[in-house]
Amino acid sequence: MNSFDFHNPTKILFGAGKLEQLGEQVAACGSKTVLLVYGGGSIKKTGLYDRVLTQLAGAGVRTVELPGVEPNPRVTTVRKGIELCRAEGVDLILAVGGGSVIDAAKAVAVGVPYEGDVWDFLMRKAKITAALPLGTVLTLSATGSEMNGNAVITNWEEKRKKSFASIYAYPKFSILDPTLTYTVPADQTVNGIVDMMSHVFEQYFSLTPDTPLQERLCESILQTIIENGERALAEPEQYEVRANLMLCGTYALNGGMISVGVQTDWATHAIEHEVSAIYDIAHAAGLSVLFPNWMKYVYASRPDRFVQFAVRVWNIDPAGKSDEEIALAGIQATRDYFTRIGAPARLADLGIGDSEIGRMAKEAVKFGPIGSFKVLHEDDVKAILQLSL
Ligand code: NZQ
Ligand code: ZN
Repeated sequence: MNSFDFHNPTKILFGAGKLEQLGEQVAACGSKTVLLVYGGGSIKKTGLYDRVLTQLAGAGVRTVELPGVEPNPRVTTVRKGIELCRAEGVDLILAVGGGSVIDAAKAVAVGVPYEGDVWDFLMRKAKITAALPLGTVLTLSATGSEMNGNAVITNWEEKRKKSFASIYAYPKFSILDPTLTYTVPADQTVNGIVDMMSHVFEQYFSLTPDTPLQERLCESILQTIIENGERALAEPEQYEVRANLMLCGTYALNGGMISVGVQTDWATHAIEHEVSAIYDIAHAAGLSVLFPNWMKYVYASRPDRFVQFAVRVWNIDPAGKSDEEIALAGIQATRDYFTRIGAPARLADLGIGDSEIGRMAKEAVKFGPIGSFKVLHEDDVKAILQLSL
């Protein structure tokens, strides 16, 4: 196991009815003016918007709004939010939505105290050194953004989707009420399942030796997602099922719970971000296509980890099989599960051909080779994209 520092400053308020504590949390931040950030209107349809405004009114704060955050949030929207904060003297940002809304809110938060253009942070031209405080109300279990310091932002004009990670971008508090995810449509529930499983994969497939606890935590999270994923699709308003998925999503990517002491990979995410940068597909749709192909491409780097994955996560019976057969059976089980829940298997299913493969591969390694389980260069990325057509 590697040495590590782990500090996660986000306070989590988890459970049915926790939204009623929003006003208290806002008041505890000492805020006078809040920027309320939300997406394309789902919170208005579900009635959550009114409930949030009631809480904010109760806290005695003035509210300014940044609506319309896009899935795959755009830097143009972030810039609008930064301007609003400066003009209105905003001192707290409140994101109400899924990963896109929270990520956009984080980018606004770090952009306000910075004199240059916020896109500099995404292009690694500047270091984040300050941020406005941020609170979140999560409405979709998927990214873990509610308890981590990451944001992924798209520059549509440049056809680039890039991320930053900063201790300054962790939310001060996040309200996780599973009942708020009852209205998530089936396709977005599927996306959430695939995304959180992919986050575990990025941290589980590691060359770091002697990490039995981290491995078993990963395997438990994966099994819990697998068991509850199909149930959430069949019974979208079952509290325990939605609660289990929500906790899995948060644990799967919260800056350390399963990654401490482990060298993580993240190559597949880097490749996927290039696909959604150009084609504007859902992040998880890209992951569903790419991950099993990444697995096929890299499993020989450490077959024993793939054997363990197959046996412990997918209950593959190893009797009479070679290590390679067991590993491949685990990869096939992953593909079959994604297919069973309705996630895509090929880029062609998303209407994507081979015309931009060169560009996507080049961008994916823009800041250097990616991955650690197997270090990937431009040609490797091209090969994985070709396998995925
Ligand atoms: O925009 P609204 O109207 O709110 O509708 C959203 C959106 O259309 C809808 N939705 C959310 N909650 C709902 C709901 N509809 C009904 N009822 C609810 N309760 O769902 C749609 C998708 O929302 P979005 O926020 O885009 O989904 P997700 O949470 O999957 O976030 C995806 C974004 O996060 C990034 C992805 O790249 C993508 O841009 N990621 C962020 C990460 C992070 N910050 O750590 C890590 C991830 O790997 C990922 O890259
Ligand atoms: Zn992801």
